[in-house]
Amino acid sequence: MFSTGGLHIDQAPPLHLPFRFFVTAPIFLILTAVSLLVHGQNLLITPLAPETIATVHLIALGWICMVMFGAMIQMIPVLAGVPVPWPRLVPWVHGLLVMGVATMYLGLTTQIHPWMLLFASFGLGGAVILFTIPVLKGLFQTPSRHPTVMAMRIATFCLLGVLTLGGIFLGEYAHGFLDMDRIALVMTHLLWGLMGWVGVLIVGVSFQVLPMFTMAQEIPRKHALLILSGWSLFLIGQPLTLYFSNTGQWIFWLPTAFFFAAILLYGKSMVVMLGGRKRRKIDATLRFWFLGFASGLVSLILMVSWTVLDAEWNRFLFGGVFLLGCVSSILLGMLMKIIPFLVWFHRFSRLAGLVEIPMMDDLIPPLALRWQFPTHLLVVILMIMAVLSNWEPMIILLALSLIAEASLLLYTLWFALGHKPPQQEALPDFDSFFKDTSWMAAKPGETSRAIAFEIGTSKFPEIINY
Ligand code: HEM
Repeated sequence: MFSTGGLHIDQAPPLHLPFRFFVTAPIFLILTAVSLLVHGQNLLITPLAPETIATVHLIALGWICMVMFGAMIQMIPVLAGVPVPWPRLVPWVHGLLVMGVATMYLGLTTQIHPWMLLFASFGLGGAVILFTIPVLKGLFQTPSRHPTVMAMRIATFCLLGVLTLGGIFLGEYAHGFLDMDRIALVMTHLLWGLMGWVGVLIVGVSFQVLPMFTMAQEIPRKHALLILSGWSLFLIGQPLTLYFSNTGQWIFWLPTAFFFAAILLYGKSMVVMLGGRKRRKIDATLRFWFLGFASGLVSLILMVSWTVLDAEWNRFLFGGVFLLGCVSSILLGMLMKIIPFLVWFHRFSRLAGLVEIPMMDDLIPPLALRWQFPTHLLVVILMIMAVLSNWEPMIILLALSLIAEASLLLYTLWFALGHKPPQQEALPDFDSFFKDTSWMAAKPGETSRAIAFEIGTSKFPEIINY
């Protein structure tokens, strides 16, 4: 096994496993746009209207979860060094997730079939369980003690909690509402979904991936663990205070204090880390991360003001800025690196130095490099204007810009996947190459076919930082 700076790229799963998620995710962004066009201003009346919940989950599950599932299946073997067991389950996870989101949307917005929400519970429950069991098995088997691995474990447990509550809600829509504190349950679902499953995963991945992309020092392990501890105390403590205390009591605010301490330490660590980065160029990925961080900060301010103002627009704006401004920016930034890297790694890396192969930046279309970020920025700005004005033309513009953004991403995927390795006959005779061991004796610095293996040694960080 070769490993590079803590990475284990030889453990990467086959290309089709993560890519089926990446290709489906933008289609759900397009469906979100269609839902905006169909329901228009009705979506912005009250957050718990069925069509609003359905549209929120086209983004939260169809777009965000879809990309995160694909990325985790890809990243766990590479970052933690263990393959996710039972890869044959992955196509089932994908199929059930697609079915679950589609039937949840149809069940909440139409009366096509009385059992639609039952299918949704089956689809989403099946997808999340078939995803989390192998992922947790892998994450607990790895000898790695890296904070990224710990963050992934916390995030995956949160996803299970989110599913449990979401399943209860769907059951209620189908069979009548239970006598439970609904506000507290929805807040817990929201908290574990947004701050737990999504937030912790992003924070954890940033510990390892951002230093790699920007050639910076990782933040001290002690700081990373403190951040994760404060964040986890919030995720456990806040639901308890929602049930057992009220906003007038100091204990209600204690978990929030842990959370803000964690956020402050995280912010400071990121500023120090990025300030000291060796790679000063701000490429598309970093631009997306910066937009994500800025939106994350704005959504925190909106979260705090929500508890004070208790206004519907505040809640919509918080959801929009968090889901589209913060999370989607970071996902898009990651995809701009992951897509060309995976295609290059699976199809061309072993041919490096043997035949002419494309560079990694040849696998991203110039059109996407130029327009993906501005289009996304436009989506975020139009979303803010649509929420604040609730004006139909603004919602239509938002939908059109979402379609443009998703189409660009689909084009990028199509473009990258269109690069095929050379035909067999164009390749050198590998059998004789491997029988001939003289290349092993090549002296350091000599041009040698051994360069094909350099991806496993010092060249890898530079390749990622193309
Ligand atoms: C895993 C399967 C999931 C199911 C079955 C599910 C289901 C639901 C349901 C039925 C509601 C409405 C609650 C009510 O009417 O009281 C809801 C609300 C919500 N869920 Fe989920 N959910 C799931 C996952 C997620 C995830 C992963 C996220 C975030 C990443 C999320 C974010 C939200 C938000 C933000 C709301 C509040 C909607 C609003 O304010 O308009 N959900 N969920």
